Amino acid sequence: TLSVKNQIDARRQESRMGGGQKRIDAQHKKGKLTARERIEVLMDPGSFVEYDAFAEHTCTNFGMEKEKYPGDSVVVGQGQINGRTMYVFSQDFTVFGGSLSSIHAKKICKVMDQALLVGAPVIGLNDSGGARIQEGVDSLAGYADIFQKNVLASGVVPQISLIMGPCAGGAVYSPALTDFTFMVKDSSYLFITGPDVVRQVTGEVVTQEQLGGAKTHTQVSGVAHRAFENDIDALLNLRSFMNYLPLSNQDAAPIRANVDPWERDIPSLDTVIPLQSTAAYNMLDVIEPIVDEADFFEIMPDYAKNIITGFGRVNGRTVGIVGNQPKVAAGCLDINASVKGARFVRFCDAFNIPIITFVDVPGFLPGTAQEYEGIIRHGAKLLYAYAEATVPKITIITRKAYGGAYDVMSSKHLRGDLNYAWPSAEVAVMGAKGAVAILHRGAKDLTEVEEDYVKAFSNPFPAAVRGFVDDIIEPRTTRYRISRDLDLLQTKKLKNPYKKHGNIPL
Ligand code: COA
Repeated sequence: TLSVKNQIDARRQESRMGGGQKRIDAQHKKGKLTARERIEVLMDPGSFVEYDAFAEHTCTNFGMEKEKYPGDSVVVGQGQINGRTMYVFSQDFTVFGGSLSSIHAKKICKVMDQALLVGAPVIGLNDSGGARIQEGVDSLAGYADIFQKNVLASGVVPQISLIMGPCAGGAVYSPALTDFTFMVKDSSYLFITGPDVVRQVTGEVVTQEQLGGAKTHTQVSGVAHRAFENDIDALLNLRSFMNYLPLSNQDAAPIRANVDPWERDIPSLDTVIPLQSTAAYNMLDVIEPIVDEADFFEIMPDYAKNIITGFGRVNGRTVGIVGNQPKVAAGCLDINASVKGARFVRFCDAFNIPIITFVDVPGFLPGTAQEYEGIIRHGAKLLYAYAEATVPKITIITRKAYGGAYDVMSSKHLRGDLNYAWPSAEVAVMGAKGAVAILHRGAKDLTEVEEDYVKAFSNPFPAAVRGFVDDIIEPRTTRYRISRDLDLLQTKKLKNPYKKHGNIPL
């Protein structure tokens, strides 16, 4: 008989092999790494500490008692990413297709509990055939336990999901409850029911990729926030992404040693706005030169492209950036843009990340399509998110700030801390053409009244004389101003009235 020590070693080794070499080979053949290999890439070398490597499922249905794998179908533990502690669970597709048994769920819940105790993010690497069919309702109970913890952890520690294989049925709701969901192109799927069930119930014929692939969720549904080329690309991007985030809501956003001069002038910004007020330009040409080393991590780059959201740093400090994108639909706010912006602003506010807003917005998108879908209700989300946010808020109006959209986009009136206008700013109820058409309905020649309107409103003065912007600044000095303001606002203290929770219009 083996000594206990040898048994421990043997079992640990067995655990490392997951579902065995054959299934590992099958995983590799699909271009996917194994659960453990993924953790190796994600975490700093040698930093990962595994828990529950000896845990086993307890199912006795269908002869399951004869098929056990130490650790079952998920690898859990903690390690470091660039020296900062993070918890991770990585579902092992080689063991029962990564399906969720009762013990699998308990392992995930254990690291979530620990993460909350110490204040550290939870990263989930999802690759699973869903509920462990043989376990029935025990498996469903496991999901619900995870969902409950996802909700309690929401806003306390960052929770990130990286979908690296199938994720179907009840399994999708844990990623959906986390702060960010990333996907791997061509090998990951998220859906409530797979193509077979869809065909049976609705008659629709659709492939897995069309139904719930990375393209679908990053471009059409908005369920996922970014998609990456393959496992390695996704894990390395996740490493850089985590560097932007604080460990918990009790921590400030991290400050990175910065080599990019904080006071740097950016001459290109003086000429980025076209002379013609209706001409398009790319707001990324404003954002990228302002952040440190032009390093901007965009969130949802392929969804609701009329608004830009993402993380950057200014003088080493993480900032959340929101910008209207004049290049797409003139940068107007529609339902999708409002929801995208609102969720991003709320994440930043929950995790102490200052918000910088670049405004060039001609208003909300008009029309029955938007009204019938509830633009009023959805647009209110963005308004709500900005209004409740207590983190430092800096706003730069680069050009148009029209109508209700002016109010929404982190205006002074919504407790904006520092609000600036560029000389090209126009703050008005609407553009000159629309305005004079209403004021002088039926008149033949509107050229003169239009010129008067432009003179009165198409400039930054009406806002500046009222103190609605704090200053009119030279575009080239924008990075300098933001850097100084972030220093200043470090000690900002602002609390909303006590409430159980607010009632954001959903
Ligand atoms: N419960 C138990 N075992 C499961 C499982 C589940 N939900 N899903 C997959 N497995 C097992 C398979 O029996 C197979 O076992 P084996 O290695 O001993 O042969 C292994 O995991 C791999 O599954 P397989 O179907 O061969 O892999 P695939 O890549 O061809 O397909 C899925 C992957 C996920 C598309 C497919 O397994 C599937 O449809 N699973 C069920 C999904 C589902 O509806 N789950 C319930 C939702 S809550």
